[in-house]
Amino acid sequence: MRFGVVPSSVRRDVVAWFGPAGQEWLDDLPRTVWSLARQWSLRLDGPPYGGGSHSYVVPVRRADGERAVLKVACRDGENRAEPTALRCYDGDGAVRLYEYDPETGAMLMELALPGNRLKSTRFFGHKTPESAWRRVGIACGLYRRLWRPAAIPEGYPELPSATEMLDGWRADYTDADAETRRRLGAARLREALDRCDALDDGPELGIGNRDTHLSNIVSAEREPWLVIDPKPYLAERAFDGGYFLFEQQLNGPHSGTALLRAVAEELGADAERVKAWALLRFADHLADTPEDRHRDHAAERMRLLEEA
Ligand SMILES: Nc1ncnc2c1ncn2[C@@H]1O[C@H](COP(=O)(O)OP(=O)(O)O)[C@@H](O)[C@H]1O
Ligand SMILES: [Mg+2]
Repeated sequence: MRFGVVPSSVRRDVVAWFGPAGQEWLDDLPRTVWSLARQWSLRLDGPPYGGGSHSYVVPVRRADGERAVLKVACRDGENRAEPTALRCYDGDGAVRLYEYDPETGAMLMELALPGNRLKSTRFFGHKTPESAWRRVGIACGLYRRLWRPAAIPEGYPELPSATEMLDGWRADYTDADAETRRRLGAARLREALDRCDALDDGPELGIGNRDTHLSNIVSAEREPWLVIDPKPYLAERAFDGGYFLFEQQLNGPHSGTALLRAVAEELGADAERVKAWALLRFADHLADTPEDRHRDHAAERMRLLEEA
């Protein structure tokens, strides 16, 4: 085993999303990792993790024998500020950040053990409706704790703003091409634009997370569950519920009013705003889904949330 062996899924995704820049990142990776290992006195402690998409993530040992995780991400606007968030969380509900290298964006962080994903089948009674509610409670309880004022430490990347996401959608939907119109339909297109306006003047802003889902929460010893892989945005509390509720409503066993209420309550956020963020994520998903069959399923699940 040696540093720099990248899981094939990461290879594929990085090249598909980033094109030549992704290829360049892959080509540089062995050298990048080698130099970080020297800088931070690390040795490899197992094969890299699969299941990620943007990153080379590998268990390591520090000079004193402590176990840790090295993460080198192919940076974009969405993940650039991950170290900022981890540093601000300071281990309170998320893995602790040990080191950050501004040049490469690499991070050395706490290893969560046993590290099972909250989504995994090892979760007690994983297929029962009750266990699905417990997962919602665990996840949203963590997001509620993690949301906090954004005091950016010196030398760390600034957070992108959730209003930039609204601006992006507004631009897409105002000049929607024929295919987007077809996929979303006139009514949903109009409603999405209304929601972009309604969410624009949010209440208090703090460190929100765009990538809230059950694979980015892992089991640990210091706390039962810790968040990994945050994609922080300067955002209101309800923002964190957007992707989470969308994903649960799309794939989870629970749905509609009961799910919306549970997510908003556990987050401590306004239910109508959580719903609006989630419906915008649904609209985005419909616009991005070429297969009729998948879109029909998503449109039906979206309807249940619209009616909630
Ligand atoms: N600090 C950590 N402790 C334990 N496992 C981790 C840690 N960081 C990442 N992992 C594992 O590696 C996988 C990919 O890491 P992640 O940070 O989610 O990458 P990506 O940004 O590509 O999604 C995770 O799903 C998890 O299984
Ligand atoms: Mg991840």
